[in-house]
Amino acid sequence: MKIKKSELIITAGRPDQYPVTSCKEIAFAGKSNVGKSSLINALLDRKNLARTSGAPGKTRTVNFYSVNDNELVIVDLPGYGYARVSKKEKEKWQKMIETYLHKREQLREVILLVDIRHEPGENDVIMYDWIKSFGFSGLVIATKSDKIPKGKIDKHIKIIKNKLAIEEEGLIIPFSSTNKLNKKEVLYLLENLE
Ligand code: GTP
Ligand code: MG
Repeated sequence: MKIKKSELIITAGRPDQYPVTSCKEIAFAGKSNVGKSSLINALLDRKNLARTSGAPGKTRTVNFYSVNDNELVIVDLPGYGYARVSKKEKEKWQKMIETYLHKREQLREVILLVDIRHEPGENDVIMYDWIKSFGFSGLVIATKSDKIPKGKIDKHIKIIKNKLAIEEEGLIIPFSSTNKLNKKEVLYLLENLE
């Protein structure tokens, strides 16, 4: 897909703020700080369209981005598993993610991001199983691949595959927002999702 234009539609804290659109929508989920917002910027060739931060817990709303005047809508979800927020706040984010996944009919795929350096945690496993239970295909992007030597990528991918019990080939892709590894491949995937 050629990205000609991208813009923020809305940051939604409540479902009544979700934009009315009829195009394909794809959401990115994952632990706080895994690189969801950075991946969106990398894919869309924008430096700071989605706000990123070195400190986890940056994205706290469901953020909708329009690509090429609604050829595609990309959604940045709040991260889960950020320890340093109150229980109440955590529950609020969790509810926000759940509500979005339940309500959004035009949602075609939820892509789970995990950090390539670490074995996925319990929250990731729960999230992944949950995504699959909704009937989505279970695509996984392993972020920050620039942080490990190239020769170790396969080994790390294998660990993630095992932990998440991914059987199918091609469902997990190493990615880097820093050196843009597999950027074209991910864009191609997004474009070709049913
Ligand atoms: P929340 O909004 O808190 O859920 O986090 P997020 O998943 O949106 O993460 P974000 O994109 O804000 O990135 C978190 C930190 O990781 C930032 O300091 C980014 O610069 C860094 N980061 C993200 N992707 C990459 C990557 O591919 N490589 C490297 N080296 N750093 C990355
Ligand atoms: Mg974010």
